[in-house]
Amino acid sequence: MPDTHFKSLILGAGAAGMMCAAHSGPGTLVIDHAKAPGEKIRISGGGRCNFTNLHTGSGNFLSENPHFAKSALSRYTPWDFLDLVARHAIPWHEKTLGQLFCDRSAKDIIAMLRAEMGGAGLWLQTSVEDIAHRDGRFHATLTREGARMTVTADHLVLATGGKSIPKMGATGLAYRIAEQFGHRVTETRPALVPLTFDEAQKTVFAALAGTAVDTRVTCNGAAFDEAMLFTHRGLSGPAILQISSFWREGDQLSVRLRPELDLYDQLRARRTVGGGKATATVLADLVPRALARHLAEAWGVTGNLADQSDVSLRDLARRLSDWQLTPTSSEGYRTAEVTLGGVATDKINSRTMESQILPGLHVIGEALDVTGWLGGYNFQWAWASGVAAGRAI
Ligand code: FDA
Repeated sequence: MPDTHFKSLILGAGAAGMMCAAHSGPGTLVIDHAKAPGEKIRISGGGRCNFTNLHTGSGNFLSENPHFAKSALSRYTPWDFLDLVARHAIPWHEKTLGQLFCDRSAKDIIAMLRAEMGGAGLWLQTSVEDIAHRDGRFHATLTREGARMTVTADHLVLATGGKSIPKMGATGLAYRIAEQFGHRVTETRPALVPLTFDEAQKTVFAALAGTAVDTRVTCNGAAFDEAMLFTHRGLSGPAILQISSFWREGDQLSVRLRPELDLYDQLRARRTVGGGKATATVLADLVPRALARHLAEAWGVTGNLADQSDVSLRDLARRLSDWQLTPTSSEGYRTAEVTLGGVATDKINSRTMESQILPGLHVIGEALDVTGWLGGYNFQWAWASGVAAGRAI
């Protein structure tokens, strides 16, 4: 016999699930197997949560259907979220490229969402054993504080996110339940993730660990002008995290160092005024010293700048503008910020996030095949899709 009946049962007290609960009215229960709600919010943006991006548009998302996100994003915009943040008097700042962060702590956003959830129930450390649908209701068998129980609900919202950071409790549960009810799940893979290289390259990058340089990184038609960071394991930094969503095994990256400069002009100008310097020394005016040293050695750059012909300077500028690197893999779900792919959008209503196969079933947030770029877009999707489902319930 069911113990309790709710209008809506939301699986996952993350960004999307809490936002949905804030809009779904009385009779809402949110469950999560974690000890606290919004754990990914807490660690996001280096503890300051990059909670939205002012320039959010559907073009900042990857999905089988690039139009799917448009409806929800247009009905709940970054400005709507900013209104909410203002009502809770949370101080914030724009860091760069429209990315908004908390001044104090990501915990401000969690507290705000908790308050917005009002009277919705929140059961933590609760796991899902089984979900069934019969007699027009969802029946969820749960384990809470060691006790098994069943709850029923008219609406079931899948908000358990993707597979990234399993150590924090990511499970892919939403995919399994969606499949159980006839939905397709697209291929999933780690995204917004550092890339790794073969041993030889790894050794070189490890020697440069901590060095950051402005780049344009290009792969499969996508290009990002942001910083690239060398690490003990390979490459990271915003430019690499961004491109990782487009990179596939076997693909090469093209790295343009200092993309804002015409490097050939720069080298020629320096030859005119300081040609007596070693070319490798002059390179260190353009890129960090340790990287300049490595590149000069790897590319066999010797002699003074004055000794270099126009042709060799052009060749050096070309190499700096198209440094080709072939990652072997990524750091995987262990460190990926998001999961690319998810529940296919083709059988989900883009206004309500409701299943077109089983009315009453909704899928929101990262669990769906909608993956944002780095920079606050993923949270904006979590808010917008959560609101879309919450309003429809
Ligand atoms: P989310 O993952 O937030 O929530 C899912 C919830 O479901 C969790 O509380 C989890 O415990 C629960 N759950 C999972 N499986 C379960 C199960 N089997 N049973 C019960 N509960 C279960 N984005 C951004 O826009 N700006 C940023 O600054 C950052 N920074 C960032 C840093 C790091 C380190 C990471 C890992 C990620 C980010 N992101 C980000 C991405 C962002 O955190 C992510 O896209 C959203 O949290 C997705 O929100 P959801 O609510 O869909 O899932």
